This record gives sequence, C-alpha cells and structure tokens, in this order.
Amino acid sequence: MNDFKPGLEGVVAVETEIAEPDREGGSLRYRGIDIEELVGHYPYEAVWGLLVDNDLNSKMPDPEPYEPAALTGNAPSDLQAETARLSGEWKLGKLNEISDEQAREDLGRLSAEMMEIVARSAAKADGREPAPDDVVAQGETAAERFLLRWRGEADPRHVKAIDTYWICTAEHGLNASTFTARVVASTGADCGAAMSAAVGALSGPLHGGAPARVLPMLDEVAKTGDPEGYVRNILEQHGRIMGFGHRVYRAEDPRSRILKRTAQEVGSPRMEVAEALEEAALAELHKRKPDYVIATNVEFYSAVLLDAADVPPELTPAMFACSRVAGWSAHILEQKQTGRLFRPADRYVGPGPRSLSAV
Ligand code: CMC
Repeated sequence: MNDFKPGLEGVVAVETEIAEPDREGGSLRYRGIDIEELVGHYPYEAVWGLLVDNDLNSKMPDPEPYEPAALTGNAPSDLQAETARLSGEWKLGKLNEISDEQAREDLGRLSAEMMEIVARSAAKADGREPAPDDVVAQGETAAERFLLRWRGEADPRHVKAIDTYWICTAEHGLNASTFTARVVASTGADCGAAMSAAVGALSGPLHGGAPARVLPMLDEVAKTGDPEGYVRNILEQHGRIMGFGHRVYRAEDPRSRILKRTAQEVGSPRMEVAEALEEAALAELHKRKPDYVIATNVEFYSAVLLDAADVPPELTPAMFACSRVAGWSAHILEQKQTGRLFRPADRYVGPGPRSLSAV
C-alpha cells in the first residue's frame, strides 16, 4: 500500500482546539466564534486573546521599549532576524524547561514586539524615522499604534482596513508557517526560534507572499482592459493566478468575503478592476477544471484591502506575519501542552547499495 501523501495533503498531524475552517460551508471560527462576529466589534489584540487564552478580555500586551539592531527596510527578513535575536536579547527559556505561564508571557511579548519591528522596518523602507513613543501612545488599538509608529499618523480608514485584515488572517489551522512553528516548538526550542522560523515559512509566494503578486495583475488588467485575455494568457503558459485556489476550502473562502466588503467600505479605488479580474478568473478556472473548486482565496482581496490602506506590495508578507502572531502563539502553546516531537517517516527511493567507483 502506498501511503505517501505529497505535501502531507489530508494527513492529520495535530488535533487542535484553536480554529475551525468549515471547508464546505465557507466559514471560519476561532475557538468556536465565527470571525464575522469579531470583525468590527473587537480589535485585533482582543482576538489575539481569544486565540491564545480563549478570552477576549485577555489582550496582546503593548510592546516593550526596544531598539531593533540593524533594520534593512526589507520587512520579512528584518522580522525573521530580529525575532530570532529577541530570544538572545530577552534570554528566553526553552519551551521544555519553562512553565506554560512563562511561555504565554514570552509569546505575548514577542507578538507585540514583532508588530513593532514591522512598523519600524516599514518606516526605514520609506526613508523616515519611526514616530516617537509619545505619538504612538495616542493610538487606542494595536492597528492604530502600528500605523502611528510607521507613519506618524493613522487615517481611520487605514486603521479599519488593517484591523480587519489582521483579524481575518490571524489563524487558519495547520498551514505551512503554523506547522513550522509547531515543529520547532516540538523540539523544545524557545518561543523566539519558533516564531522566527514561522516568519520564514510565510515569506514564500504560495503561502503569505501571494498578495504582493496580486497588485501587478490588477495593474496589468487596468492597463489592457482585458481581464479574460489576461487570465487565458497566464493559464496557457501553465501559470497560476495568484489569489485563487485553496488547499482547505472547497467553497468560497469566508475571509475573502469580509475583506472584499471592507475594501468596498473603505473606498478602494481598485474595486472595479478587481471584480472584473475575479469574475474572469473564476469563469476560466471553472471552464478548465469543472470538477475542482477553485475559488477566490484570502490573498486576492487582502491585496486590494492592504493597498487601500497604502501598504506597499513588498510589505504584505510581513503584514501577514503581524496577523499570524496570534495563531502561531496559540499553536506554540498548544504544542507545548499537548504535543510530541515531530519526526515523520520517509521512504528511501534512491539507488541501492553500490560501490564507490560507480559514483
Ligand atoms: N491558478 C491556476 N491554476 C490553479 C490555481 C490557480 N490559482 N490553483 C489551482 N490550480 C490548478 C493547478 O494548476 C492544478 O492543475 P493540474 O492538476 O492540471 O496541475 C490543480 O488546479 C490543482 O492544483 P493544486 O496545487 O494541487 O491545488 P491545491 O488545492 O493544493 O492548491 C494552492 C492550493 C494555494 C497552492 C493553489 O491554489 C495556488 O497555487 N494558488 C495560487 C497561489 C495563492 O493564491 N496562494 C495563496 C494561498 S491561500 C493563503 C495561504 O494559505 O497562505
């Protein structure tokens, strides 16, 4: 019997109480609560508390005063490097040697600081100094303080866009980056090591990097005015249309629905082109793969919504990482409490024993 599953598709690697993507009905619940009930009612930092502590009153803490070492302005790599550095700076303990309470505290500190690092790296990329603490302290929510640190100002429409985006993408089960976080946590490494490894996994285009590739598609369609031709062209060259298809959902991605609605509410100037491309892509993908559901995924309208908040495409993987600090933290804790060292099996299919002279 061949039990090998490339990409571990369908293989249950953990049991979790954190999030439930309802793949047929197209809804997403955090600890049983539909995200539709959270967006606009609770800020991201409370949703962090729901995911990590099962308590909407237990919020992600504010960041501590901390000067990142040497930011480059490339947010994903700054975030990965600085998060790993915090392990040393804060002398974080190994997960198999610290209590659950200590791990929870470490994850709270790290989550808040990771948002700080992204805001500071974004300011660096823009060629300006991050805003001082007294300006940032005027912000009431994590999204507002993030924008204040980055830009020195926080347009309420941008705050709404970012808060919604962060909540919608805060957690999504055992995706590649969360799996990475759990694998690292399962070795007993410290929380900074697990979080920074997750950032690396998120930076690839098939996971968190897709929104950066959506806007150029929209630019191209706006230029040619021919979404159908654009889509056909990509598919004829065996390319992938970014922002469509999902390993889990076999229905509309519920996050896409909320992100699209919010992009409309904040007045995204790209809505018309985005809807035209979405319609053309869904029709053509369905024509070519009638038996396989390929729907709009979270990345498509994430790109549109983040663009409406003036977030440049190259910053989108790091923005995704800001959202996911909640999910990663919850999973690292769950791994610590219930998990076991990951060590899957492989099957050797290389050459049989042979002499050195044959090489
Ligand atoms: N554009 C064109 N063809 C597609 C697409 C797409 N977006 N998605 C799936 N297909 C085709 C694919 O070419 C394949 O065809 P064939 O069997 O002829 O080779 C078939 O559908 C099945 O593809 P798959 O890769 O086995 O399907 P999957 O459900 O495992 O793929 C996916 C999931 C996200 C990797 C894929 O849909 C994809 O590459 N999408 C584009 C990138 C993207 O939007 N990524 C963000 C993912 S959502 C957020 C996250 O998890 O980070």
